[in-house]
Amino acid sequence: MEIKKVGVVGCGLMGHGIVQVAAQAGYEVVVVETEQGYLDKGLSRIEKSLAKLAAKSVEKGKATAEDAEAGRAASWGRITGSLDKQDLADCDLVCEAIIEDLEIKKALFAELGSICKPDTILASNTSSFPVSVMAEASGRADKFVGLHFFNPVQLMRLVEVVRTDATDPAVFAAAQGFGKSVGKAPVGCKDTPGFVVNRLLVPYMTQSLLMLERGDATAADIDAAMQFGCGHPMGPITLTDYVGLDTTLYILEGWVERYPNEPAFAIPEILRQKVAEGKLGRKTGEGFYKWDGDKKS
Ligand code: 3HC
Repeated sequence: MEIKKVGVVGCGLMGHGIVQVAAQAGYEVVVVETEQGYLDKGLSRIEKSLAKLAAKSVEKGKATAEDAEAGRAASWGRITGSLDKQDLADCDLVCEAIIEDLEIKKALFAELGSICKPDTILASNTSSFPVSVMAEASGRADKFVGLHFFNPVQLMRLVEVVRTDATDPAVFAAAQGFGKSVGKAPVGCKDTPGFVVNRLLVPYMTQSLLMLERGDATAADIDAAMQFGCGHPMGPITLTDYVGLDTTLYILEGWVERYPNEPAFAIPEILRQKVAEGKLGRKTGEGFYKWDGDKKS
């Protein structure tokens, strides 16, 4: 099962990063969006990120300016944007990174199942939905995996490779191989809520918000405690802002619906309030903190 051409559906926060790491690893990549504006925005993020990484590799003495520029241009040249899903037909692997809405994802996979060539591997970057449900909808459950990347995809080393009971072991192995080839450490996991990371991380983030809600400590102190006490790169409240408060809420709501008696999935009122106010974290410039681009202001 050789993967040469990769398709990505969605060029948002996660999708643009997946496109970029695949192109950097030498794959031809087609990325499909629903509107030209979204596509342009995602491609421009990739362009900036590639330029930044090229500049950094020169700064760190890892490449000459000439080699870094050649690498940047080659990666960029391997990416094609499209508004037409038919352009995914001959991809060897198609990874979905669209909105976290199970019905929309199921409809997309039903469509991809009929558009893509029979041996195309289909993958979802879902954070929290059952992979088996999307696999079923695609009509090719044996060729379906979860490929869960982490934000920012360009910098985070992990990809969770999720197998369902129906996943063909050769497809699972090919997906793990793909993860490795794009410079990630693939971790295999079963199709359980949140897989490994989010099953641990989201309840941790939630507990930090409940702590804030109770007034046990300030947001800055909770974050400093975990940064300096446990060596985390970001404290949990900064991380919730970074991931997106809406995304965190969607994840929790999906779990609560399926596991209403699991106390670890409790939703803090403070999270609902922020989302209702449109304060979604870094992406809107304000969540629990104020943000200026990627940095807290
Ligand atoms: N492309 C290129 N460069 C980038 C970049 C990108 N996408 N994103 C950041 N950078 C650059 C920054 O601009 C910065 O450059 P500079 O040194 O020239 O200023 C450099 O990378 C390092 O960034 P920072 O200065 O912000 O320094 P950090 O050392 O703090 O690194 C971080 C940033 C890697 C994001 C680090 O803070 C971190 O690991 N945070 C935790 C992130 C995390 O936990 N992610 C997982 C979220 S959970 C998830 O995704 C699952 C989902 O399903 C919910």
